[in-house]
Amino acid sequence: MNLPDLKKARIRTDKEVEYIYLNDHYQKLFSGQKYFLKTYGCQMNVHDSEEIAARLESLGFNKTEVLEEADIVILNTCAIRENAHDKLYGFLGRCKHLKKEKKDVIIGICGCMAQEENVVEEIMNKHQYIDIVFGTHNIYKLQDLIINKKEKQNIEVYSCEGDVYENVPYKRESQVKAWVNIQYGCDKFCTYCIVPYTRGKQRSRKSQEIIKEVEELVKNGYKEVTLLGQNVNAYGKELKDEINFAKLLEEVAKTGIERIRFVTSHPWDFTDEMIEIIAKYDNIMPYIHLPLQSGSSKILKLMGRRYTKEEYLTLYHKIKETIPNVAITTDIIVGFPNETDENFKETLDVVNACQFDSAFTFIYSPREGTPAAKIEDKIPMEVKEERLHKLNELINSYSLKANQKYLGKTVKVLIEGVSEKDNTKVFGYTETMKLVNVDNACDKIGEIIDVKITDAKSFSLDGKI
Ligand code: SAH
Ligand code: SF4
Ligand code: F3S
Repeated sequence: MNLPDLKKARIRTDKEVEYIYLNDHYQKLFSGQKYFLKTYGCQMNVHDSEEIAARLESLGFNKTEVLEEADIVILNTCAIRENAHDKLYGFLGRCKHLKKEKKDVIIGICGCMAQEENVVEEIMNKHQYIDIVFGTHNIYKLQDLIINKKEKQNIEVYSCEGDVYENVPYKRESQVKAWVNIQYGCDKFCTYCIVPYTRGKQRSRKSQEIIKEVEELVKNGYKEVTLLGQNVNAYGKELKDEINFAKLLEEVAKTGIERIRFVTSHPWDFTDEMIEIIAKYDNIMPYIHLPLQSGSSKILKLMGRRYTKEEYLTLYHKIKETIPNVAITTDIIVGFPNETDENFKETLDVVNACQFDSAFTFIYSPREGTPAAKIEDKIPMEVKEERLHKLNELINSYSLKANQKYLGKTVKVLIEGVSEKDNTKVFGYTETMKLVNVDNACDKIGEIIDVKITDAKSFSLDGKI
C-alpha cells in the first residue's frame, strides 16, 4: 500500500461512514494467535480498547498479558500531557526488541497520539517496525488493516466530520459494570487541551441507541452503567430534535438499571434540571466529577473555561444542597502560563471552600497546536512542582476527612471482584464512588451489599459485611 497523503487522509467524507463491518463478517484467520493490548489515558480509551479487543477476537486472536507471547501488539495511546508521549516511547523500545526476535509480530498504534500529525510522521520516519497506525475515528477498520497488512506501514488516520457508527462490538472487561458512550469528541476547545483535535468535534449518539444499549446490558445482568463523554452535559446540543442530558439521564434511570454514573461534567453546561433529576432518581448515583481546573477567574478566562470562580462555587453549593450526601471530585491544573502565587492561592481557597472528596491534579503541560502553548511561560518548573505538592497535601487531607465520615456507617457497595493485593478480600464502590475493600465476601461478586466501614484511609475504605 502507498502511504497516504496525510492531509488528504485526514478528511473523512460521509460516504466513508457507510462501511462498517460487524464481527460475524470475519473468518477466524488468526486462530491460536495471541494479542497484547495496552491502554493509556482516560475512560474513553479504556472503552475503545474494549472495541479493539472484540475486533481482534473476531479474527481469532486470544488475549495475553505477556508481551513476549504476542503475535500482535496494539498500543492505544493518550496525548493529554507530554509525559504520555514519554511513557509510550519507553514501551516502544520493548516492542522494537520484540520485532527483532520475532519477525512476524504485528505492532500497531492507535488512540489519541495517532491523531497527531507530527507523531504519525515520526512513526513513518523513525519507527519503521510499527506495522499499522489507526486513529480514534476508524477503529472499525481494524480487522481490514490487519488482514490487508502489507510489507509497508499501513496507516489510516483522519478526522471525522460525519456521523457516529452504531452496533459496535465490545469485549467488556467487567460483567458487573459497563461503559456506554453517549457522545464523541468535544467542542469546548479549552485553550490547553488537545482532545478536540484528537477526537474531533462533538458528535452525540441518538438517545434511542443509548437506551437500547442500556436495556441490553440490564438484560445481560449488568448492575451499573457509566455514561461517557468529554462533556456529557452538552449531550445532544448539536443534534436536531434530540433530548438534553437531563432527559437522557431520566430515560436511562427508567430502564431500571441499578446504578447510573456519568463522566465528565463541564460546569458551564450543568443545569438546574440536571441537578433535580439526579436528586429525584435513586439509581442515579450521588457522585459528580466536576473539574475546576483553577480557582482564579483570570486563569479560567485564559483557559477558555467559560465560568468564573464565583459561578463554580455557586454551582457547587447548589449541587451540595439539592442532592443528599453527594460526593464531588475534581481536576485541577497548576502552573498554567503566568499563574501567579496569588492566582494559585485562589485555587487553594476554592479547595478549602469545597473540600472535595478527591481530585486529580496536574502540572500544566503545553500541547503543540493548542492556543495556550503559544503563551510565553515564565514560571520555573520548581515553582510548579512546589505548587503541585502543596495542593496535593491539601487535597489528600480533605480526602481523608471525607472518608473518615464513613467510619462505623453501613453503606451499599457494588462488589466488583477479588482484590489484587489480597485474595481473601473483594473490592467494590459505594454509591459515592469510594473504593472499599471488604473481608470474606468472595461469593458476593456482582451484588450490591450492605458493608460496615471499619477503617478509612485517604484513598480507600475497609469494611465487613
Ligand atoms: N473533558 C474533561 C477533561 C478531559 S482531560 C473536562 O473538561 O473536564 C482530563 C484532565 O486532564 C482535565 O480535566 C485537565 O485537568 C487535564 N489536562 C488536560 N489538558 C492538560 C494539559 N495540557 N496539561 C495538564 N493537564 C491537562
Ligand atoms: Fe478538553 Fe475542555 Fe473538552 Fe474537557 S471540555 S476535553 S478539558 S477541551
Ligand atoms: Fe488521553 Fe485522548 Fe483521553 S488524549 S485523556 S486518551 S481523550
